Amino acid sequence: MTIPWLDWISLMIRWLHLVAGIAWIGTSFYFIWLDQSLRTRAGLAKGVLGESWSVHGGGFYHVQKYAVAPEVMPTELHWFKYEAYFTWLSGFALLVVTYYFSASSYLIDPGRADLAPITAIGASLAFLIGSWLIYEALCRCPIGRSTAALALSVFALIIVSAYLLTQIFSDRAAFLHVGALIGTIMSANVFVVIIPNQKKVVADLVAGNTPNPTLGAQAKQRSLHNNYLTLPVLLLMMSAHYPMLYSGGAPWGWLVIAFIVLAGGVIRHFFNTHHGGGHGLALAWQWPLAVLLALGLIFFIATRGPVVSTNTISDTRALQIVTAHCAGCHAAQPINPAFSAPPGGIVLDSIDALHRHREQVLAQAVTSQAMPLGNASGMTLTERGELGQWLKTQKP
Ligand code: HEC
Repeated sequence: MTIPWLDWISLMIRWLHLVAGIAWIGTSFYFIWLDQSLRTRAGLAKGVLGESWSVHGGGFYHVQKYAVAPEVMPTELHWFKYEAYFTWLSGFALLVVTYYFSASSYLIDPGRADLAPITAIGASLAFLIGSWLIYEALCRCPIGRSTAALALSVFALIIVSAYLLTQIFSDRAAFLHVGALIGTIMSANVFVVIIPNQKKVVADLVAGNTPNPTLGAQAKQRSLHNNYLTLPVLLLMMSAHYPMLYSGGAPWGWLVIAFIVLAGGVIRHFFNTHHGGGHGLALAWQWPLAVLLALGLIFFIATRGPVVSTNTISDTRALQIVTAHCAGCHAAQPINPAFSAPPGGIVLDSIDALHRHREQVLAQAVTSQAMPLGNASGMTLTERGELGQWLKTQKP
């Protein structure tokens, strides 16, 4: 009996990551919506910025928001922070289990940068920490006072990171790292700014001092950033399932990511405006722009891949290519020690199997270069083109 412990641990962590992420994003969406839905009226208590009514679960909720804090501390106060912390912790654990433990399969692409695993892991950590430090500096320097200038700078930070990451890591790892570094910024916003500021406000209240309103404003700015970054992060986290996104290869990964960040931000803007009571023209432009961005991405990717070849090769040659580059992992009994079972349940050991998995093989090895994972066997563009040409002439 062999137990694939790493797979089990990875599954448990992924489960936790998903659940914590859903809880975090759920509360984030809810509170931004709540902020946008606040309305004022005469007769609200002193310090109340606005109120909101909603109905759910068989009753009515009546929420009031105090601009900074109420005059006296409530006896019971609920915090929302563990969702963010556990999302980051489980995400980082997943990064370690997948990308660090199997760095040569997942993180490194020797055709791009032939890094030693330890160097690649160091680079991964440097990106996560470095981009967060730069973000923090941007928010705190004079740029941080202008919403537009700050938004542009943070966008530039993400795109430059994307460019650099696609130069040194496999596409899959690079896209995931852009998601991870944005996720790190978002969690750090909660851990370093939002919660500590709220704690200071609470401490002031307890001590009978008037809390500094900039603490609340700063926390609000960070939670708005988190709100706009949510949709792009989610797509980047799923990107490994859609390797067509990598069709541009190293020179163009940053542009694909730019499309994703912009489209996600614009869609989020629609909901924020809508929940804030906006109507008419204020809501008219976001979806058309998001659709244009998505179409732009789709057509851009179509101009990138796949690798084409006009060489026709024999069945034997096609199987030879697959045996050389895929069968080490995609066999009933993988030779590659990192796998105890064929990854994704896909065994590529016969012409018949290639027929069955035709579309998937095209997507993974021809349209994109996602496979072979880590390309340790050095599959060439010619081989990809020839395999693609052969697959296209096969009847499904
Ligand atoms: C180093 C091991 C390794 C090699 C070599 C390899 N693969 Fe994979 N393959 C994997 C792993 C791991 C997965 C699961 C990916 C994931 O975690 O999402 C996978 C998944 C797949 C999938 C399923 C993707 C999906 O979820 O739809 C296809 C198709 C595939 N590989 C094709 C190939 C082809 C074609 C080759 C050779 C050109 C190849 N692989 C070489 C490890 C490998």
